[in-house]
Amino acid sequence: MKAIVIDDFGGPERLHLADRPTPPIADDQVLVAVRVAGVNPIDWRIRNGQLKQFVPYEFPIILGREVSGVVAAVGAAVAGFQPGDAVFGFLQQRHMHWGSYAQFVPTEAAKLAHKPPELGFEQAAALPVAGHTAWQGLFEVADLKPSEVVLITGAAGGVGSIAVQMAHNAGATVIASASAANHDYVRQLGADLAVDYHAPDFAAEVAKHFAQVDVIFAAFAGPSLQGCAPLVHAGTRIVLLSPEATEADMRVGGVASRILIARADGAQLEKIAALAVQGRIRPHIAAVLPLEDAARAHEMSATQRTRGKILLRVAAD
Ligand SMILES: NC(=O)c1ccc[n+]([C@@H]2O[C@H](COP(=O)([O-])OP(=O)(O)OC[C@H]3O[C@@H](n4cnc5c(N)ncnc54)[C@H](OP(=O)(O)O)[C@@H]3O)[C@@H](O)[C@H]2O)c1
Repeated sequence: MKAIVIDDFGGPERLHLADRPTPPIADDQVLVAVRVAGVNPIDWRIRNGQLKQFVPYEFPIILGREVSGVVAAVGAAVAGFQPGDAVFGFLQQRHMHWGSYAQFVPTEAAKLAHKPPELGFEQAAALPVAGHTAWQGLFEVADLKPSEVVLITGAAGGVGSIAVQMAHNAGATVIASASAANHDYVRQLGADLAVDYHAPDFAAEVAKHFAQVDVIFAAFAGPSLQGCAPLVHAGTRIVLLSPEATEADMRVGGVASRILIARADGAQLEKIAALAVQGRIRPHIAAVLPLEDAARAHEMSATQRTRGKILLRVAAD
């Protein structure tokens, strides 16, 4: 099969097209014929070797942790999926070297969801990582309640833009932290207030409207999180996504941050898909590039300035 692989850690130039064998599947796995692969910051962090101490990798590595496509084969113990089913999911396979920047990818059936016909393959590929991360951070880790105030950093990004919409739908009051150029965009997503984290006094701006916040969903660590300290009270829950958190990020305003590592969960993804079908969440697609342009997709993602998701088109619908 055709795949984008790396043979060593390094820059985007390491990504190259290669022929690889079609991946084998275990009894509990499904082989997905990939239509669209989602690009996420974890992909270029794996590529540049930043995460190598956490996960044992075997070269060549096919990157890509997010997929939409069609079931090509199922393992002997798989129930609920059959060849021809349209599916999508967040890939957390046992063998991390099989990713979605390829014509086929294997994954455990329990981590996949059926793609509703109302969602295109591009919309579906844009949802799993951001959807799981936002859902688990807001509702499982922070236990956000409808009457509460939540501040979301990185609000215009892939994860943040879905978190703003989910929190708004849940009835919470949403403060979106983003560059000024993204303020109209985050208000359209449902933010009640937009603040610019580059302004040294952004917490004072928030405090004019809300004395304190109940939940901080921090897609990024650093000044955008630490600047929230004046808004934190004893009951504030801080959820942090960043793999680069320092000690100062881990304790803001005297409250310990909780690190979220999102998990793939097919049943949860079906609920997230239902929200998308109802139009209650809409993934924003920043760019769709051909698979061969994976290096360009990584360069775009690594700017950390994109609105919404970057996708790679692997095969036509
Ligand atoms: N722990 C997990 O399980 C998990 C899961 C998914 C993602 N993540 C992590 O969550 C982060 C966000 O992911 P993503 O896919 O949403 O990324 P993304 O789409 O690249 O995020 C882009 C947005 O991030 C904002 N941003 C960039 N640097 C920032 C900073 N220093 N402080 C505040 N905002 C900043 C930008 O906002 P402006 O342009 O408005 O300035 C931009 O809109 C990444 O670090 C990713 O690795 C973790």
